[in-house]
Amino acid sequence: MAETNYVGPFSRFGSTSRKDAWWVQPLLVFLVLSSFVVYATWAAFQGKHYFYGPYLSPLYSPELFGDSPHSWFGPRPDWWPQFIPWSPALLILWAPGLFRLTCYYYRGTYYKAFWADPPSCTVSEPRKTYRGEHSFPLILQNIHRYFLYIAFFFLIFLSYDVWRALWFTDPVSGEKTFGIGIGTLVLVINVVLLGGYTLGCHSLRHLVGGIRDRLSGAPVRRTAYRCVSCLNRRHMMWAWMSLLWVAFSDVYVRLCSMGVWTDWKII
Ligand code: FES
Repeated sequence: MAETNYVGPFSRFGSTSRKDAWWVQPLLVFLVLSSFVVYATWAAFQGKHYFYGPYLSPLYSPELFGDSPHSWFGPRPDWWPQFIPWSPALLILWAPGLFRLTCYYYRGTYYKAFWADPPSCTVSEPRKTYRGEHSFPLILQNIHRYFLYIAFFFLIFLSYDVWRALWFTDPVSGEKTFGIGIGTLVLVINVVLLGGYTLGCHSLRHLVGGIRDRLSGAPVRRTAYRCVSCLNRRHMMWAWMSLLWVAFSDVYVRLCSMGVWTDWKII
C-alpha cells in the first residue's frame, strides 16, 4: 500500500510520515517565547534600574507614574493596592503584551509550540475535536485589531523616548546638550523594529486595503496597502527581531543603570 500523509482523528499523537526534524521549530519557539515571558515578567516587577541618563527601558514606556525623570504624572499613586508590588511597568505592559499574544502570526506559532494544536503541519495532535477560534476562549483573539490602535500610541511614545535619548544633561552646567550614545542607537533600532512589526500587521493590511474589492481608483489606499503588504510578507521576521530587541533594550538600560555596562557617547 502506498505511503500516506493521512493525519486525522484516528491517528496517534505525533504520528506523521514526515521525515524532517519538524519538532525543531516548535521547540525553538517554545524556548524563546518562554524565556522572553519569564524575563519580561521579572523585569516588569523589578521597578528599578529601568532608566539611565536620558534612556528609558521600552518595557517601562510610557512611564505614567514613577520616580524617574520620564514620569508623566509624578510618583507612585496612592490608589495603588498595597498587596501588589509597585512597578511602573505593570500599568502599561498589558497593552503590548496582549497585542503580541493576539497577533495572527504568534497565534499560529504558539498554538503549535505550547499545546500542539497541531504540533506541526501533517503531524497528529493530541485531541479528537477541532473547535478553532469560533468559540470561547479563543474567539477573544478577535480583539487584536483594537490592540493595533493602542500599539500605534506606543510607537509614538517610544519615538518620543528616542527624541529624549538625544539630550544629555551636562554634569557641570546641568543643561541639556545634544548627543548620541550607544543607548540612543539601541532605542532607535527598537522603534524601527517595532514599527516594521506593527505596520505589517494583518489587521492593518485589511484596514488600509484588504477591506476593498478594487484598489485601482484609490491611489493613496493602494500605496498604503502595498507598503503594509511589503512589511507583512516578513511579518515573522519583524515579530522575532522586535521581540528580542525589546528585551535587549531593557537589558542595555538596566546594566548601564547598574554600572555593569558603560554607555559610550558617539557624539
Ligand atoms: Fe501580527 Fe497584527 S497580525 S501584529
